[in-house]
Amino acid sequence: MIKYLGSKRALLPTLERIFAASGAQSGLDLFTGTTRVAMTMKQLGMHVTAVDTASYSEVLAKTYIELDASTRDLTELSSAIENLNAVPGRKGYFTTTFCEQARFFHPKNGQRVDAIREAIEIDYKGSWLYFPLLASLLIAADKVDSTTGVQMAYLKTWSRRSALELELKIPELLPGDGLSLRAEANEVAGNLPEVDIAYLDPPYNQHRYFGNYHIWETLVRWDSPEYYGVANKRIDNRDPVNKSEFNSKLTMPKALEKLISRLRAKTLVLSYNNESWLSRKELTDMCSRYERVEILDFDFKRYVGSQIGGYNQSGELVGRPGAKRNLEHIVLAGSGPSIEIMLAGLK
Ligand SMILES: C[S@@+](CC[C@H](N)C(=O)[O-])C[C@H]1O[C@@H](n2cnc3c(N)ncnc32)[C@H](O)[C@@H]1O
Repeated sequence: MIKYLGSKRALLPTLERIFAASGAQSGLDLFTGTTRVAMTMKQLGMHVTAVDTASYSEVLAKTYIELDASTRDLTELSSAIENLNAVPGRKGYFTTTFCEQARFFHPKNGQRVDAIREAIEIDYKGSWLYFPLLASLLIAADKVDSTTGVQMAYLKTWSRRSALELELKIPELLPGDGLSLRAEANEVAGNLPEVDIAYLDPPYNQHRYFGNYHIWETLVRWDSPEYYGVANKRIDNRDPVNKSEFNSKLTMPKALEKLISRLRAKTLVLSYNNESWLSRKELTDMCSRYERVEILDFDFKRYVGSQIGGYNQSGELVGRPGAKRNLEHIVLAGSGPSIEIMLAGLK
């Protein structure tokens, strides 16, 4: 899976135990990002809906959540991947913009991204293979990047992994059906069917995912946008439509309150951390329509990008190394007995 700010990889075993204990049959992951949490729900047999505003997240959700592996001929996927891995590199927008003018990827890999992405568009658009092939390319490119995990800067000297050869692998598709929606959480919340369990993992600071992962947006949209700044960010990074109300201290609390009030979920599981703009009291109050609210605390090592900082085109350090500990919290809200069962699942 791709490196992702706020990814819940470390929290996954805990979330899995909570979900399993809940016995939920239907799940909703409203800020799905890498879809890791939605995948865990799906693996537990739930019907899952995965929502996010990002185009690359939609590609991952179409692949891992919406596709039902049991209804597809997976040999078609492996032979498509084999063909794409044999496509010779050819310099295009991606190489010029992200490998020559900036140094996010080695040019040899940039040329392969250019050629493979073009082939996916020409040969597979409209086929069920389209999204898994895009996901495979996204993950392969992430494995050979030269960043600390965000795309607002690249490393001063090439990362070791950037010298590796880009290689597409077969994504591990899951059996079972689900739904992927590229949408703004508050816009869709009221129209979603009632679910047994909803997981909410909103952004908790001012750093916007659209700008931090602009290369993945461009790789998926394949629209060769105009760009600006040292990181060659998409020009539409500046558009208000690509800003999230969850990225501002001023608008986030109201947005989350509105979201919780609109959702139809028997049980709510919400992640936040010690950097977020909400106090425990505010979070508990937001969930007050539920019979019982519990907050669990976890201490994790902080995301590595913030420890070592990143560099811009002139080789200067951008962003300061941050604090090394990161307190994560999980809010559980639901009926008294359902919370009791989920807490018992953690013992
Ligand atoms: C903390 S990350 C979620 C990480 C995810 N749980 C994982 O494990 O990969 C927050 C996500 O919210 C998405 N997002 C931001 N604003 C949003 C909005 N208004 N509606 C829906 N998704 C939004 C971002 O694109 C990002 O993927």
